[in-house]
Amino acid sequence: MPAVYIKTYGCQMNERDSEQVARMLQAKGYDLATDERQADVVLVNTCSVRDQAEQKALGKMGLLSHLKRERPGLILGFMGCMAQSRGQELVDRLPDLDLVLGTQQFHRAADCIDLLRSQFDGPRRPIVDVSDSPGSESTIRDHVLRPGQATAFVSIMQGCDMSCAYCIVPATRGRERSRPIPEIVREVEGLVASGVREVTLLGQIVNLYGRREFPCSEGRTPFVQLLHALDKIPGLQRIRFTSPHPAGLKDDLIRAYAELPKLCEHMHLPVQSGSDRILRAMRRSYTREIFLRKVDALRAARPDIALTTDIIVAFPGETERDFLDTCSLAEEVRFDNAFIFRYSDRRDTPAASMDGQLPEDVKQARNQHLLQIVNRIARDTLASLVGSTQEILVEGPSKTNPSRLAGRTRHNRIAVFEGHGHAPGSLLALRITRSSDHTLYGCPAET
Ligand code: 5AD
Ligand code: SF4
Repeated sequence: MPAVYIKTYGCQMNERDSEQVARMLQAKGYDLATDERQADVVLVNTCSVRDQAEQKALGKMGLLSHLKRERPGLILGFMGCMAQSRGQELVDRLPDLDLVLGTQQFHRAADCIDLLRSQFDGPRRPIVDVSDSPGSESTIRDHVLRPGQATAFVSIMQGCDMSCAYCIVPATRGRERSRPIPEIVREVEGLVASGVREVTLLGQIVNLYGRREFPCSEGRTPFVQLLHALDKIPGLQRIRFTSPHPAGLKDDLIRAYAELPKLCEHMHLPVQSGSDRILRAMRRSYTREIFLRKVDALRAARPDIALTTDIIVAFPGETERDFLDTCSLAEEVRFDNAFIFRYSDRRDTPAASMDGQLPEDVKQARNQHLLQIVNRIARDTLASLVGSTQEILVEGPSKTNPSRLAGRTRHNRIAVFEGHGHAPGSLLALRITRSSDHTLYGCPAET
């Protein structure tokens, strides 16, 4: 059987898209290789969000080209966001590339590979398809589950109609398109029947799910209607989602935290900056004050909700004062954790041609400074949990020490413990005995 290896860069949405492609290839009889050296087909699912991500994918393809010199039959393909934004340019630049598939064409991957394989004896013509495909949002719906897999991602929408000044995503992922609620419910029911206990709903601005397609009902936006429908599924224990936009975080979603027991008390809520001037330049459509008010409202609905965030440092024109506003916001909110990104200029985005682009040393220094603040708060938060008992969903052996088990608290904090007889997917009460920068350690509590 021919074997395929898929390398994925970027976000969870990309992981999910790769899983769908893997599933479709499996259904056509392909084996999934765990190593590119054993594969007849290597697909690289790319990300464009920062230059670094693009460089990684290009570097990887460079290495794969060497492999192809030794094995001319090898098929090499790029999929995803960079494939979408660069299209034909990639084939022109990388003569060993056979396939370039955009973000609305994942469902065609298996057919394209079959076609390329059938041309093995003659000269292969590269396939490039970055066209739109109506309905493609509903094609990301099948899963490749490992035995005992307790958690799964579910793509509920594609695209983004926002216009954040720094962001390439609206160009790579297209307009917002959402899947109907019954279709998503069926997918989650199927996952639960296979042993999954926790789902994470995925969308570029997940809380704006369905705003173009489906009406509000009983004062609830489509996203909150979906949460209510999922909360009713027997056997499902936990619901998460990522990533919402603060501007779309309305009262109905905040209320859901008080109403829905399966909705976990964690939200990844990207703030991007703590300076009103920069938020305006970024076109984020909320102010620091509005963001803080939403945080207060969330904490009123679920007092111990854990918040994580994304922050961009050194956006064009960011002064020392703007940056200090971001640092003080991090102190004020006390995020559980934050992904900090140095601003990276992306082609054809408004920010790329703004005045006040900052040099690399300023980007580095601000990144380091903010990271220290975020890490200190994260460490203190975890330390304050020592002595408490937390509900853990067991996910499987710990990555760093497979003789231990690992899982997550409802707040999405990683917990590691010694223990046998706790199958993946089981919930247990863990007494926290110590903590490190990013991990809790404990032992199962006596019941
Ligand atoms: N430069 C740096 N970070 C960026 N992000 C998006 N675009 C850029 C950019 N041009 C970050 C944002 C977003 C996360 C996924 O990536 O913080 O929330
Ligand atoms: Fe990267 Fe954004 Fe595309 Fe995800 S959607 S792969 S983060 S560019």
